[in-house]
Amino acid sequence: MDMLKPGDLAIGIDFGGSGIKGAIVDIRTGQLAGDRIRIPTPQPSIPREVVQVMDQLVRRLIEAQTGSGRAMLSPDDAATLPVGVGIPAATRGGTVLTAANIDLAWIGFPAEREMARAMGRSVAIGNDADVAGMAELRFGAGRRQRGTTIVLTIGTGIGSGIFIDGRLLPNTEMGHLELHGKDAEERVAESARDRLNLNWRDWASGFDDYLHLLERLFWPDLFILGGGASKRADNYLQYLTVKTPVVVATLKNNAGIVGGALIAHDRRHDDAVRGTVAPLP
Ligand code: BGC
Repeated sequence: MDMLKPGDLAIGIDFGGSGIKGAIVDIRTGQLAGDRIRIPTPQPSIPREVVQVMDQLVRRLIEAQTGSGRAMLSPDDAATLPVGVGIPAATRGGTVLTAANIDLAWIGFPAEREMARAMGRSVAIGNDADVAGMAELRFGAGRRQRGTTIVLTIGTGIGSGIFIDGRLLPNTEMGHLELHGKDAEERVAESARDRLNLNWRDWASGFDDYLHLLERLFWPDLFILGGGASKRADNYLQYLTVKTPVVVATLKNNAGIVGGALIAHDRRHDDAVRGTVAPLP
């Protein structure tokens, strides 16, 4: 089996409400460069437990690539692979700022620093929908898309990423816009469909109202629907009536992992060029 080039690889991790998923990703192509591993999210999802699970996940991913018989990566290269994590919360400067669907102990947690310490490698964090959106804009349904693109991830919550000519406006948190007098995600997340026991047509009617709300506020050129519910889009696309084109994310459930790897790699690239760039005036 060919050796992989370490500079083209990064580990992406997607921290979801029910599972923590990760893989080594070839960031030139957005393809997974090995198996995808999923570990159930600890309940309660307190930072210490979640960081431990992520560390275990990274070890398993590395073992699978360096283990006997199918070594695709030298142990030295594996030891320096950077990690990027999509977190279901607003994040800034490596710290988690909110906690709608995760344990409240995440608020104010310096996740980047603590994860790097636990894993002994470079770690970058970002909002889960932002990083999934980055992957879709780079490799998926939003490739070469210009203008305003809104990526929505429909899962335990509703995540959002807004892109202008492919550049991200981070932490938009549009799942918490008010819809029918409530936090939108309480009505239109995938978890809400189960909790409220709605059939697809009824769920889609609320989701369509939500898309109309976003359309009236942002007039995007494209909506990309990702997250768990994107796998079952055939059940509801026909009920959507917005004028804006709506497409389904093509990376499906891997977008968060691939996006995680992208931010990991960009960070490493930033680190490499830092010092050669003129400081801002
Ligand atoms: C969180 C967002 C997250 C979304 C999807 C929301 O409840 O506030 O930060 O992107 O869920 O996980």
